[in-house]
Amino acid sequence: MSVESPMRIAVFVSGTGSNLESLFESFEGSSTAEIALVLADREAPGLDRARRRDVIAGVIDHADEAAIIELLESHQIDWVVLAGYLRRIPSEVVARYPNHILNIHPALLPQFGGKGMYGHRVHQAVLAAGESESGVTVHLVDDEYDHGPIVAQRKVPIEPDDTPETLAARVLAVEHQLLPEVVRAATEGRIHVEDREAWIEEAAGRSS
Ligand code: GRF
Repeated sequence: MSVESPMRIAVFVSGTGSNLESLFESFEGSSTAEIALVLADREAPGLDRARRRDVIAGVIDHADEAAIIELLESHQIDWVVLAGYLRRIPSEVVARYPNHILNIHPALLPQFGGKGMYGHRVHQAVLAAGESESGVTVHLVDDEYDHGPIVAQRKVPIEPDDTPETLAARVLAVEHQLLPEVVRAATEGRIHVEDREAWIEEAAGRSS
C-alpha cells in the first residue's frame, strides 16, 4: 500500500495569526496534511507562532510574484491559505495555483468585502448597514480582493448592543472553527469547483 506524503500547506499572514494558530492546532499530528511554510508581508506575530513550532517562516515582498512562486515551489506547497493576509496575491501566483488558494473573510461575501475591507472596518460596515446577522466566508482566491468562488459560509448572530469589537470577537471564534474544516476538506480533495461555483463534498462515512 503506497503511503501518500502529506499535503503541504503554506499560510500567509499579516497580523496576530489567531487563524494560523487554529490551523496549527487542527493539523497537530496529522499524517495527511502539514503547515510547511508561513509567510507574511511584514514582521508579524503570526510568524513567531510558526517559529515556535520550528516551521519555516519569513517576510516576503508581497509584490514579487517570481520570488513567491519560487518559495512555494521549492517547499513543494500544494495549498495556500490566506489567514488575515492583507495584500492581494499577484495574478501570476493565482495562475500558478489555480483553485488552490483559500482566503477567509470575516463577513458574508459578496457583501462587505473588497479592497480596504478588513478587520474593524468590516464589522463597522455590517453594523452600520443594520444587518441582523453577520458571518464568515472562506473562498477560493482569484485576481480580485474577496472575489473568488465561495466554498463555505457560516452565519453569526448580531446582538442589539454589539460594537464592532464584540461582533469581531464572535465572528473570529467562528473563523477558528470554519477555516480548519475547509482546509481539511481541501487537503482531502473534497473541494470542487465548476465555473464560479464551489462546494465541499462531505467526508466519506460521515452521516449527511
Ligand atoms: C480575521 O478576522 C480574518 O478574517 C481577517 O483578518 C483577521 C485575521 O486575524 N482576514 P488573525 O491574524 O488570524 O488573528
